[in-house]
Amino acid sequence: MRREAHAQHLTAPASGRGDLKFPASQPENSRTAVREKQQAAVEVANNATTDGRSFAHREGWWQTYITHYGERPSLFAEVTTQGIPIQEGKTRLLDIGCGPGTIGIYGLMEKKALSATFTDIRSEQIDLVRENVALRISEGKLRESQVRIIKRAISFTELSDEELDRHDLCSFNPPQLPCDYVDEDAWRKIASDPVQSAYRIGGPDGLNMARKFFEWFAEPHRPKPDAVVILSSFLGRKLIERTLNSHKGIRWAICKETPGIPLRPFFLKEKINALTSAEREDRSLKPDGTGWWTKTLFLMRLMYGFRG
Ligand SMILES: C[S@@+](CC[C@H](N)C(=O)[O-])C[C@H]1O[C@@H](n2cnc3c(N)ncnc32)[C@H](O)[C@@H]1O
Repeated sequence: MRREAHAQHLTAPASGRGDLKFPASQPENSRTAVREKQQAAVEVANNATTDGRSFAHREGWWQTYITHYGERPSLFAEVTTQGIPIQEGKTRLLDIGCGPGTIGIYGLMEKKALSATFTDIRSEQIDLVRENVALRISEGKLRESQVRIIKRAISFTELSDEELDRHDLCSFNPPQLPCDYVDEDAWRKIASDPVQSAYRIGGPDGLNMARKFFEWFAEPHRPKPDAVVILSSFLGRKLIERTLNSHKGIRWAICKETPGIPLRPFFLKEKINALTSAEREDRSLKPDGTGWWTKTLFLMRLMYGFRG
């Protein structure tokens, strides 16, 4: 049941199959048909084998995040990572909250970062990224010398200055599901699983972890490498801007806004329909033609530096 819900929520961007498209470009005009097609594709991805190595025996909501690396980094990785300013052969990337390695692996394989370091607060995610990276190394797609995995499960607030100094850029796609807008049953399921909670829960307005990250990033007398933080437009452009502007130690710019991405199914339709058109505009919500909504993702570039 949970796996099903997860597979649905992944929808097109996370499925990792080249034949998937965002709903805006799909011919079907019924939401159900779109969802069924996406669900079927995710099921295929779930059971895919990669050069004889199958992860299908594994059970868990996170399963597609492993298998979608089957042949190449996923469409989700492409959407989130393509716009990150990684310089070929130069950037030493610190993938904070790496999960299964979505951003760092894409950064290495497709954007040719010089190196990537993976770190996460959950040991389960560190195990996944280890597995993913080992597979890529065994396939000759990555070199061992390009990759470091911080073995201890730690919060970004525990990263040492020495560790930070080793990098030119860090990335963070924080947990940001806003509980005020999510179906209660779905919320309870997520909250009862500590790995999923750490992965998704962003507090009432979705910005709790992002706020924590901004505070850490802006700490005086502790410069950080530039960061790219990925935030859902659903959180609201004005709120994001206000939150960032409250930190004198951060200069920031949106370096990329992605094309429309389906809003996850566990959002409450009534609440979204009740938003005013100005609120919808602020959240970049657009009807997808099937009675549901698309959002976008902001790639926010943060630079350490005090504004006058
Ligand atoms: C939304 S997932 C992003 C995973 C992956 N980077 C991606 O983009 O698909 C958020 C990740 O951040 C991790 N995380 C949550 N709080 C954290 C913290 N304080 N420090 C480091 N990682 C954290 C979670 O365990 C989870 O893997």
